[in-house]
Amino acid sequence: MSSPDEPDPSTTCARPVELPPSATAPLAPPLQLSAVYRIAGLEQIDALYEKRESGFIYARDGHPNAAQLAAKIAALEGAEAGLVCASGMAAEAAIFLGYLDQGDHVALSEGLYGKTGVLVTRELVRFGISHTLFDATRPESLRAALTPTTRIVFAETLSNPLLRLADIAGLAEVATAAGALLIIDHTFAPLLCRPLALGASLVTHSATKLIGGHSDLTLGVVAGAGRLIERAAAIASAFGLSGNPFESWLALRGTATLSLRSARACETALTLAERLAADPRVPHAHYPGLPSHPDNARARQLLNGRYGTIVTIDLGDRTRADAFITALRHIPFAPSLADVATTVSHPATTSHRNQSPEQWARQGITPGLVRLSFGLEDPRDLWSDFDTALAGASF
Ligand SMILES: Cc1ncc(COP(=O)(O)O)c(C=O)c1O
Repeated sequence: MSSPDEPDPSTTCARPVELPPSATAPLAPPLQLSAVYRIAGLEQIDALYEKRESGFIYARDGHPNAAQLAAKIAALEGAEAGLVCASGMAAEAAIFLGYLDQGDHVALSEGLYGKTGVLVTRELVRFGISHTLFDATRPESLRAALTPTTRIVFAETLSNPLLRLADIAGLAEVATAAGALLIIDHTFAPLLCRPLALGASLVTHSATKLIGGHSDLTLGVVAGAGRLIERAAAIASAFGLSGNPFESWLALRGTATLSLRSARACETALTLAERLAADPRVPHAHYPGLPSHPDNARARQLLNGRYGTIVTIDLGDRTRADAFITALRHIPFAPSLADVATTVSHPATTSHRNQSPEQWARQGITPGLVRLSFGLEDPRDLWSDFDTALAGASF
């Protein structure tokens, strides 16, 4: 059945179809799932590996969808380069594994996302990496935490769940003087400020959150100077931490509406934070846009008139928190954030679940805290659900 003109059906099945070249280009970025690229010959493979020619070879080392997303985030962060990783944690891992050697020390801010703490304090410790905690709102506390082997200082722009705002410029000054890299996890505050312009060495995001924006992908990004990103990319390749084409494509699509989604959700968060703070059924509301928040003055100065999409309320104890969460009719309990729809989470049983009572006490975490992540609904509809839940839970 096989002939030079007509191959056997099994061959036709296996071979890709070749289309004639198109004189037009797609308007929307194409999704390119290929795990590997066709190389013209040995001259070209040498040229590609030696960077005399640009092009993709193997998707774990780079592919067009990740390159487009990385370029977009780098542009938003004012960075030379960016890197896409398989999750926010993969992005952090690429940095820690790339810049720490055995015996090095990390300064970690209090109130970090729980798994970041786990990565350093339970996993990296096995490789001889030590750490000390500091308060990211007080650069002098970082100075006290430094040791001669501190290589990385890690903080979040807005801490989780109490939304303390890091003094990024102050931390950068202390870290730079000590020869350490300042890494800022900017997941809670994309577009609200630019950590690199304030002196951070690298900025990371869980793109699973606001960048993706629809709770349908898991991805992370890092942005910063080209030479730093190159090292993180080498680690991502060696440890297999790279992000895949489909989710990179989805996240790039998410960036198209990021500015609009963020603006709308920040506005709603401020409106409802003010309303919740004034409600006698809510013992306390934490939001950097409220005058009662300890970092309100810095937030006014740093965040361009927006204060983030997250508000955390303290309902006193676990029973009341549970009564509120289960009485919500439309707003789901979902332990993530930054979806187009508003969600609630409970830090004590989710993001900060495995921490000791001492760790909770140091960060101000209590079983009564409920974290609200605002989406794009009309604030009046959200208030109606909160109001009913607060009333129904007989506060
Ligand atoms: C502030 C922050 N950083 C990092 C991460 C980790 O991101 P991912 O879940 O994409 O690994 C999260 C996840 O919730 C987060 O909230």
